[in-house]
Amino acid sequence: MPIRYFDDKRIFKLDTSGSSYIFKIGRAGYVMGLYYGKRLTDHDVDYLTVREGHDSTVPLSADVDDDWRFSPDTMQAEYPAYGTGDFRISALRIKSGGVGVTDCRYISHRIYEGKSDPCGMPHTRAGADDADTLELVCRDVTGAVITLYYTAYRRHPVIVRRARIANSSALPMTIERAYSASVDFTHPEFSLLHLWGCWARERKPERRRLGHGITTISSSRGASSHYHNPFAALLSPDCGEETGEAYGFSLVYSGNFSIDAEVDAFGLTRIMCGINPDGFSWKLDSGESFDTPEAVLVYSDSGEGGMSRAYHRFWRDHLLAKKWQGEPRPIVVNNWEGTYFDFDADRLVSIAKAAADLGLDMLVVDDGWFGVRNSDRCSLGDWVCNERKLPGGIGRLAERVNALGIKLGLWFEPEMASRDSDLFRAHPDWCIRTNGRGMSIARHQYVLDLSRAEVRDYIFDSLSAILSTANVEYVKWDFNRNLTEYSRADLPDDRQGELFHRYVLGLYELLDRITASFPDVLLEGCASGGGRYDPGMLYYFPQYWTSDDTDPIERLSIQYGTSICYPACTMSCHVSASPNHQTGRQTALKTRADTAMAGIFGYELDTARLTDAERAEIKAQVEEYRASRHIVTDGDLYRLIRPETITHGGVVCAWEYVTEDKSEAIFTYVCERTVIAPVSFVRLRGLDPDRIYTDVQSGVRYRGDTLMNAGLNLSGGRRDGESVRIRFIAD
Ligand code: GLA
Repeated sequence: MPIRYFDDKRIFKLDTSGSSYIFKIGRAGYVMGLYYGKRLTDHDVDYLTVREGHDSTVPLSADVDDDWRFSPDTMQAEYPAYGTGDFRISALRIKSGGVGVTDCRYISHRIYEGKSDPCGMPHTRAGADDADTLELVCRDVTGAVITLYYTAYRRHPVIVRRARIANSSALPMTIERAYSASVDFTHPEFSLLHLWGCWARERKPERRRLGHGITTISSSRGASSHYHNPFAALLSPDCGEETGEAYGFSLVYSGNFSIDAEVDAFGLTRIMCGINPDGFSWKLDSGESFDTPEAVLVYSDSGEGGMSRAYHRFWRDHLLAKKWQGEPRPIVVNNWEGTYFDFDADRLVSIAKAAADLGLDMLVVDDGWFGVRNSDRCSLGDWVCNERKLPGGIGRLAERVNALGIKLGLWFEPEMASRDSDLFRAHPDWCIRTNGRGMSIARHQYVLDLSRAEVRDYIFDSLSAILSTANVEYVKWDFNRNLTEYSRADLPDDRQGELFHRYVLGLYELLDRITASFPDVLLEGCASGGGRYDPGMLYYFPQYWTSDDTDPIERLSIQYGTSICYPACTMSCHVSASPNHQTGRQTALKTRADTAMAGIFGYELDTARLTDAERAEIKAQVEEYRASRHIVTDGDLYRLIRPETITHGGVVCAWEYVTEDKSEAIFTYVCERTVIAPVSFVRLRGLDPDRIYTDVQSGVRYRGDTLMNAGLNLSGGRRDGESVRIRFIAD
């Protein structure tokens, strides 16, 4: 049983495959953290609660005022509340009768096999033999009942947390902050790792030493966004790629979020993650309840690499839709960079024909097939095929493409309406707006208000009309702008703060309906590239368009940053034309393919306009990817050299995937910028030291221990942008 309660000391101990999480019920029902870290045996850790050395500025609890060492302001709190003696950032603030003073004291608990899920939100999955759950019921004097959920996984170093707040009083109350999880650590010396970015430059890792005060990573854009990802980790001072401790915090949520870390004057570090309280409030009438999204906590004592591998395995096994777990994805050609809006049925069919010859699986028809859309200025929302471009509609196009042995995928941007669209002309009130204010515009479009059921019904019906009549086997679901001027005239004043969360709940409800009605359609997420790449979306979209930047050199750091939390089987990566459309950089076709083969592989160019030499090279690439993709998508990732690292071999980047049984591996090395007379040995990781590994292409044989300790010899003057990809098979 991974979760146990020791009645004598009132201690809970949650053991996962590699970590222990321990807390206790203290005097007057305070829920006090004791330890989170490497797995411990069952010895007494009660002594950890004693914290001495405060003065009169630190208040004592009204219920425990006979012990000067016991203060809410210095204890490790499991779910710190606002206004009752803990002056640090709080996870919970509920207003009752206009007053925000809140407390959270233990009442009861229950422990059971398996897990329970939050209402209406994407969540991690667990069967009875995967995990145990603890429900800890707490209460405030106002009648707010706070249930904290902890699920400990047996085969992953993972704890999933969330909270439910219920109003058991007769009067309404308003939640102003309700985080999913909060953890207090007894060390002040952590660094915070997080992923920042912007369009075409997503998920750049940044590590910064936490100082005293509060550090916040957040979004208030209505989406998790390009700018910050709902993920952060605390790193021990000695944490590197494969050594030291890393604590990951990832939120299964796609809207406004906040991850806050605070170092206090007494040497504690608090970290919490949840819905961004800025602009948020939620009214609970008597008898109602509210669920927070889930937070997924990972502990690693093998550095950032160990943390990433733990997240990768966990998302693959317990987040992605069952149907797509371990399922090879189609190798697509997407026409966006090949044609932009300039296509008709014959041009698409010629691309599909060439794709069939290259061995590809699917043509994805991107933006421009509907309404009168020949530029990004119009027609979003008018999801009716433009028969001047595609006579006979999508159904006819699917038939023509299918006859070539190629499947059809289709782009939608369902959450939007163009200013110039029939939808906006008919229902201007369906777009997010505030009466009396102008509507900010981005890419000539507005956001539809998904908090409204009639809007969701319209979107569902529009997509269904296509998906149920044409053989479309894949949908690329795009989202190209953020939410502004959000209010609803038909909601009372005290519910306006609910809108951003209601939008996200509406989106999830819509996606639940679509995935239930079209379970065989593969959904790929996109938000101007990777602008909403988060676990909430991955629950519905087993793969995500990583970035609009397809330059392989730029992709090195984007894919590296993405891999910090997300597995290769979610990372959609395409080979595009050279010079690259975003950067103008020229690169070899081999480098573009070697980089894109680090994820879900495909092409984003006009396959009908290739030279004979390119065609031959692409055929070989597709064959190689088919033969080796399971190593990438189901294997363990080892990041060997971080991108933009200056070594004696130039500015280089290298990574490796190894199957779980260590029988196959793929090593990839890209020289971003060369130096004269380079020497470069790269040591591999994760192999079996005693097995012989053969380089499939050259036939050269190595022992695992030699590859891991002496390394591969990569000297030999690689030029800017040249790459090496080696597949190894063990005897
Ligand atoms: C966004 C996406 C691109 C492409 C275009 C089409 O920018 O990120 O991949 O689909 O929209 O307009």
